[in-house]
Amino acid sequence: MHMMMSGGKKMQVASITDQRVSLTRVEYKGLHGEVSLADGHAFHDLHLDLADVVVNLGSIWKSATARRIPELEAEFGTTFGDAAKSPVLRSYRHYRICPTASNSIDIAAAWLKATERRVLLIEPTFDNLALILRRRGVPLYRLQDRNLYNSLREGTFASLLANSGVDALFLVNPNNPTGITLGQDDLTTIFGECARQQIIVVMDNTFRFFVRNPVDDYELLVESGATFISIEDTGKTWPTQDMKVSMLCFSRNLMAEMNELYEEIFLCASPFTLSFMSTLIAKTTAIGLEKVLWNLVDRRRSALRAAIAESMLEVDPVAVDSKLSVEWLRCRDTRLVDSDIVERLGASGVTILPGRPFFWASRYDAANHHNVRVSLLRPEPYFQTAVTRLEDAARRLSTAD
Ligand SMILES: Cc1ncc(COP(=O)(O)O)c(C=O)c1O
Repeated sequence: MHMMMSGGKKMQVASITDQRVSLTRVEYKGLHGEVSLADGHAFHDLHLDLADVVVNLGSIWKSATARRIPELEAEFGTTFGDAAKSPVLRSYRHYRICPTASNSIDIAAAWLKATERRVLLIEPTFDNLALILRRRGVPLYRLQDRNLYNSLREGTFASLLANSGVDALFLVNPNNPTGITLGQDDLTTIFGECARQQIIVVMDNTFRFFVRNPVDDYELLVESGATFISIEDTGKTWPTQDMKVSMLCFSRNLMAEMNELYEEIFLCASPFTLSFMSTLIAKTTAIGLEKVLWNLVDRRRSALRAAIAESMLEVDPVAVDSKLSVEWLRCRDTRLVDSDIVERLGASGVTILPGRPFFWASRYDAANHHNVRVSLLRPEPYFQTAVTRLEDAARRLSTAD
């Protein structure tokens, strides 16, 4: 922690190793550094088969100008539902469109606070969910991921939920950073039980397009009868220079309240962004995510895993099957903690994320200081440079001390 002058006042600025630093702060530092594998945004090269969408930006601009915004919003919903392989989302009409997923989370948080809900949030997960909810004053309780998964496996989810004493359950599917994914059976159990116990479901589906065998989760949600809010995103998937949109979907019974909250902040998303994203997403669906995204993710994951193979860094056992665009590594065998690893890589000009802020309720617990997160979606030469440096630094970790 050091001091900085701002408008004549002293302001405290967190350093990367500061106990209280947020993940986004480290990511922002990464943007200033040489190479950053910190943020999980999609900064990779656009697949060649999608390149003509960018070549045609001028005509997308022109047609967006000529069309009505509600029509572009509806087209986006249909296109997104198609890409998500969800016929129910494709024809779903209860959503508004935000510029980023954090905006959607913030509106969900505003509603949870306004209706005085106590929220059970998965841990570990990206820390800005907890930060936004807390900032809005929502009472927050943690659900350790292993407790959730064990309860689903053992058939005790109903009692876990009943004993938690909360009014809303907030899950991330697939979860960032672990990549653990709830499938059809788990979602059916969760939504059905929440409906029975009148607990609100809040789902963050921002990493959905990395799931190889998607289920129509909206069909399950709507059929369950649960009251729900769910958050969608394009920003983790399509490399669009951080131009992105986030659908904020909700059950029909929340329509009036969610519209009111949305309209306190937004009128609509940018028609140009909507039109551009719809064009890009429709083309992706036609070509297939496997070709434009998953193959790249697989290659990058293999390259990263090969780079650490001879070191004492390892893929965290919970994340070995992850298909996400980020890798959750464990550094326990190095006898160093996450902030040491982040610092050592920083000395090699590579920024990565420390693991402890993902444990938003228990970051001071030493058991949660053994992870770092590394992003995979960067331009080719940039990623190669980063991985070569990471390999070198990781090898030196093993021989240090
Ligand atoms: C699971 C999850 N949800 C939401 C967000 C927020 O996304 P954005 O920064 O685009 O608002 C993030 C950011 O990484 C995330 O990991």
